[in-house]
Amino acid sequence: WWSNVEPAAKDPILGVTEAFLADQSPDKVNVGVGAYRDDNGKPVVLECVREAERRIAGNQNMEYLPMGGSLKFIEETLKLAYGGNSEFIKDRRIAAVQALSGTGACRLFADFQRRFQPDSQIYIPVPTWSNHHNIWRDAQVPQRTFHYYHPESKGLDFASLIDDVKNAPNGSFFLLHACAHNPTGVDPSEEQWKEISYQFKVKNHFAFFDMAYQGFASGDPEKDAKAIRIFLDDGHLIGCAQSYAKNMGLYGQRIGCLSILCEDELQAVAVKSQLQQIARPMYSNPPVHGALVVSTILGDPELKNLWLQEVKVMADRIIGMRTALRESLEKLGSTLPWEHITNQIGMFCFSGMTPQQVDRLTSEFHIYMTRNGRISMAGVTTGNVGYLANAIHEVTKS
Ligand code: LMR
Repeated sequence: WWSNVEPAAKDPILGVTEAFLADQSPDKVNVGVGAYRDDNGKPVVLECVREAERRIAGNQNMEYLPMGGSLKFIEETLKLAYGGNSEFIKDRRIAAVQALSGTGACRLFADFQRRFQPDSQIYIPVPTWSNHHNIWRDAQVPQRTFHYYHPESKGLDFASLIDDVKNAPNGSFFLLHACAHNPTGVDPSEEQWKEISYQFKVKNHFAFFDMAYQGFASGDPEKDAKAIRIFLDDGHLIGCAQSYAKNMGLYGQRIGCLSILCEDELQAVAVKSQLQQIARPMYSNPPVHGALVVSTILGDPELKNLWLQEVKVMADRIIGMRTALRESLEKLGSTLPWEHITNQIGMFCFSGMTPQQVDRLTSEFHIYMTRNGRISMAGVTTGNVGYLANAIHEVTKS
């Protein structure tokens, strides 16, 4: 039956983890996948999550959730993106379903887009998270790209971005990273977001926000929703994918949300019913545990406060490691500019290293990262930063 099947190409991000796990060297370092580690390099379960689990244990049944997921979870999740006092939430204008984390939310949206805007395309930034390409490809939505990153400045190519927004056909769909852009760590400033929003209005474009790192850009989830709030203030009807993988450390729970802001409640009811119809034949209804953990935390002021503190601790540790990595490279006498390590934000540093340099890091130093030169700063620790800096210096000096 399956003689025609060739092995699939390795995933550019999760394949790195596989290679790391197979390496027996005691020196090995994983700065591939975007997954937070403490300063001992260990995965973290947040205290707010532990406490929520203590409260849940023994008090839950294992019944199915509705096809669209937990209503309590959705209510709390929408407040994070749209604001605690959002009139859109009060007016029930947001069609929202619990999703299998950010990937699941993007995929549901891509399928929905394909079904109800069958002639549309999606504009994706260059570069973007590699899985975005897979998601819209498998949903059979044609992809276009728009300029985003400027390789020389290692910052935003704002002029080209705006040109691409202006040149796209009216009413195009754009994928935007709400904050802490993956893989570049480069976000537009508030003023630039306002200009982007304005140009989207002129062109009647649709903004779909992927918000996988809310809290990791500034350390404050409320501040990190600023791009979305700007678009809402300007009257856009947006879509949004949210994930609790990173900001609550619930990676394996696959817990997130897809929301689409509609004209009115009636439209929101229709849109939600269609999203549920897409979910039903794929996975029927979403898993219950992560939704309970999130709604227990966000529904309790004390636990929510603890969560906000813990997000800040994670974000601050990463910022500290940015400084440490840059200083170590400079102390080693590297003559290359490394300001971008501290200028970029969120979980990643887009280092500018070539695929060949990354290959040398792996083969000579057992350092694992994606070949596009992205360093997951969340995997850098006090213990490995010196080793990492030395290896980077060795492969980048001429
Ligand atoms: C990453 O970019 O490393 C994360 O979003 C993990 C993933 O699923 O790719």
